Amino acid sequence: MELPFAESYKIKMVEPIRKSTREEREKWIKEADYNLFNLRSNQVFIDLLTDSGTGAMSDRQWSEMMLGDESYAGASSYYKVKNAIQEITGFPHFLPTHQGRAAENVLFSAMIKEGDLVPGNTHFDTTKGHIEYRKALPIDCTIDEAFDTSVMHPFKGDIDIEKLQKVVENNPAEKIPLIISTATCSSAGGQPVSMGNIKAVTDLARMYNIPVFIDGARFAENAYFIKKKEVGYADKSIREIILEMFSRVDGMTMSAKKDAIVNMGGFIALRSEELFDKAKVYNILFEGFISYGGMSGRDMNALAQGLYEGTEFNYLDSRIKQVAYLGQKLRDYGVPVQYPFGGHAIFVDAKRFLPQIPKEEYIAQTLAVELYLECGVRGVEIGTLLADRDPETRENRYPVLELLRLTIPRRVYTKNHMDYIATGLNNVFDRRIEIKNGFKIVNEAPILRHFTVKLDRV
Ligand code: F0G
Repeated sequence: MELPFAESYKIKMVEPIRKSTREEREKWIKEADYNLFNLRSNQVFIDLLTDSGTGAMSDRQWSEMMLGDESYAGASSYYKVKNAIQEITGFPHFLPTHQGRAAENVLFSAMIKEGDLVPGNTHFDTTKGHIEYRKALPIDCTIDEAFDTSVMHPFKGDIDIEKLQKVVENNPAEKIPLIISTATCSSAGGQPVSMGNIKAVTDLARMYNIPVFIDGARFAENAYFIKKKEVGYADKSIREIILEMFSRVDGMTMSAKKDAIVNMGGFIALRSEELFDKAKVYNILFEGFISYGGMSGRDMNALAQGLYEGTEFNYLDSRIKQVAYLGQKLRDYGVPVQYPFGGHAIFVDAKRFLPQIPKEEYIAQTLAVELYLECGVRGVEIGTLLADRDPETRENRYPVLELLRLTIPRRVYTKNHMDYIATGLNNVFDRRIEIKNGFKIVNEAPILRHFTVKLDRV
């Protein structure tokens, strides 16, 4: 018999979590204006809001924290990260930042100007925010298959080469400062980008002299999928695949809170010394001196160790299989989910789950609130609230997909937690026709509104 997957670690320390009653949750979610970001963490039983900064560090990472060098300049911790990045990604230059969006802020300050176009697969919301903040335009060139949760495609994060070609052919190259491939593509459902696609994108970009960057928050999970699914990679190691991915591009932005399994941290890594020199000025301005960039020495030590652990096959295998275990349970119950399953989360297709709710009433948010009320599980809306308004017309942007993301933190929850989540969501699925109304906005911020929006029942 084939042995089942089992975690590649054991538990040394635990953190108690508490169940609540439905009455308590009714009260709390109302007080939170039906925005799950406003809930206190002790009002949540299982927290699937994000896999960002929520992972469990290893005993080795905690040991590294004690060895942190807090020198302002030239700290050994800085060199530990520099060496880890160089060894794992191959990039000779790096700038530390306090998290992923800070890396975007620094890099884009050096590269993007008003009126520019930045094509890519579905940009993450902070990426999109930082592009639009500079009055430039992110252009989504993701393949169409990504927008149909029922279609089978092994690499739904791929950039559609024809769509990209149209953008680069119809615009002057100096208006396209970079192309961004987000791997895995979070907003499309944690979907991987194939090596073939990275190659096709960089081949095209090279003809027009346009740099290509990878948003690498989940680059190791992406490499795992390449190994598992792409012809020719089964016998390559994760590290070999990662080196090949990055060898084709000009640089990366990194939210280390994901695949480097730390609670805080980020960086930019790149090949060009000229761009490094340009970007480092903004790093000093926004983040801190280039040898710490918003991180403590101890945080950098944990990050360096986390990069090694996060790129181990056995860890990635149990990580991705745990996510797939939850996905398969939900599929078996008939719950519509993005398929094939993504790397860091299961994405529930809220439009197919709640077809009776009009798009103006925030379908995925409605489902997120229902799941919380049912069982105290906090997921997150990836739908109209997140898509925000068009910066020009201020009209709501209605995305093709309305998704409820059940994001699995790294090395945190057990198989029993997965069973609990699946049963809770299945209970909502069983009574889905009783859910008649969604929500309306009472108050919203001009940008990144989903974090602070206030809602009320229609
Ligand atoms: N890029 C991707 C693909 C991301 O998923 C995120 C964050 C960022 C960049 C920004 O990084 O949070 O460190 O500033 N994603 C989190 C999430 C917030 O929940 O998916 P950050």
